[in-house]
Amino acid sequence: MRETEATAEARRALEVCNACRYCEGFCAVFPAMTLRREFSSGDLSYLANLCHNCRGCYYSCQYAPPHPWNINVPQVLAQVRAETYEEYAWPASLVGLYRRNGTVVSLAAAAGIALTLLFTMALVDPSILYTAQTGPGAFYRVIPWWLMVTLAGGTFTFAVVVLIIGFVRFWRDTGGRAEEFAQGRPLMTALHDIFTLKNLGGGGGGCNDVDEGFSQVRRRFHHFMFYGFLLCFASTSTATVYDHFLGLVAPYPFWSLPVQLGTWGGVGMVIGTAGLIWTKIVSDPAPAARNLRGSEYAMLSLLLLIAATGLLLLALRHTGAMGVILAVHLGLVFSFFLVMPYSKMVHGVYRSAALFRHALERRPSPPPPGNKPSDRALGSAA
Ligand code: HEM
Ligand code: SF4
Ligand code: SF4
Repeated sequence: MRETEATAEARRALEVCNACRYCEGFCAVFPAMTLRREFSSGDLSYLANLCHNCRGCYYSCQYAPPHPWNINVPQVLAQVRAETYEEYAWPASLVGLYRRNGTVVSLAAAAGIALTLLFTMALVDPSILYTAQTGPGAFYRVIPWWLMVTLAGGTFTFAVVVLIIGFVRFWRDTGGRAEEFAQGRPLMTALHDIFTLKNLGGGGGGCNDVDEGFSQVRRRFHHFMFYGFLLCFASTSTATVYDHFLGLVAPYPFWSLPVQLGTWGGVGMVIGTAGLIWTKIVSDPAPAARNLRGSEYAMLSLLLLIAATGLLLLALRHTGAMGVILAVHLGLVFSFFLVMPYSKMVHGVYRSAALFRHALERRPSPPPPGNKPSDRALGSAA
């Protein structure tokens, strides 16, 4: 990772923290930091993505502003984190998208919707968009099956490829090796930390989500959004199995598995994204990186719109409004896949990787030679 103003400031702050160590019990970052005397740019990339931005160390810090040392760990690590998203993105020519993220997300969403509608109108009788379509294959009468599969498959595969490239670059830059993935126990520890968002739990009492008071609000809203997202993904996957392997064509009945997974996933995403937007609006801006707020609001709004239009589609699928809502919903989903690898969404990949690296570092080290019980037994026998 390249050296920047943010990495220099992060290094300065972490060197002060490494001498002070008051916040050692707060999160994973401080124990990981104390394993190092100096911070390479790869170390800073790792620590920035290990930070969950709980803000605990900002409110406890005796050197935070207005102290002249001006230590603001959550803010500077958020800056470095955003730079890692640029650093590991592929292809390099699209990196500029990060810097204009809020605008890019909105424009891509709008373009996605417009294109889907235009394709639809060019390919089918436009009146289909406004008249009620019911029974098996109703959705494909609005947007042909081949077009839906091509757009969904193409944009999703693109997102996965770019995310994998970013992950490999991050792993190499932070000193990782491929064979480390064979380590079962650290992998399980990391999965536990990812699925519980352990580091947003503070020392147990929660984080400083809004102000100096402790709460679990942000963590709970993120759970709603994260698990809602996973349920929606499971819904689409089961619908694919129904269609390709069981010969059952959408739309499916309300009590079918894909619709139930999608409904509860959509409800979770609406609660989670709306809650996170509210938390962001009312929270203290001092420990936040202000230049990143636009991209966070844009991504939260895009996820909220995807979930809300999905639920609206379910409610109105028997009416003449189905065609337009379907086109808008799919336009939003495809644009999400397109912008995902150049948005805040990559945090899921890098944070998960950082948690795995941390679990590897926490492995109990083998006892030094001559200090194992078997060695001692040999020594006494000699
Ligand atoms: C499908 C998966 C995920 C989705 C849709 C998602 C979405 C989001 C969004 C939109 C935000 C911005 C909200 C805010 O700033 O308050 C956010 C924040 C956050 N996410 Fe996720 N996320 C996902 C996976 C993960 C994973 C796997 C982790 C941890 C390993 C994680 C950790 C966090 C943390 C700690 C924050 C708050 C800190 C910050 O402002 O950067 N997320 N997530
Ligand atoms: S954030 Fe402040 S109080 Fe905490 S370890 Fe760093 S310097 Fe010390
Ligand atoms: S903001 Fe929270 S997670 Fe980040 S370094 Fe400070 S205490 Fe740790």
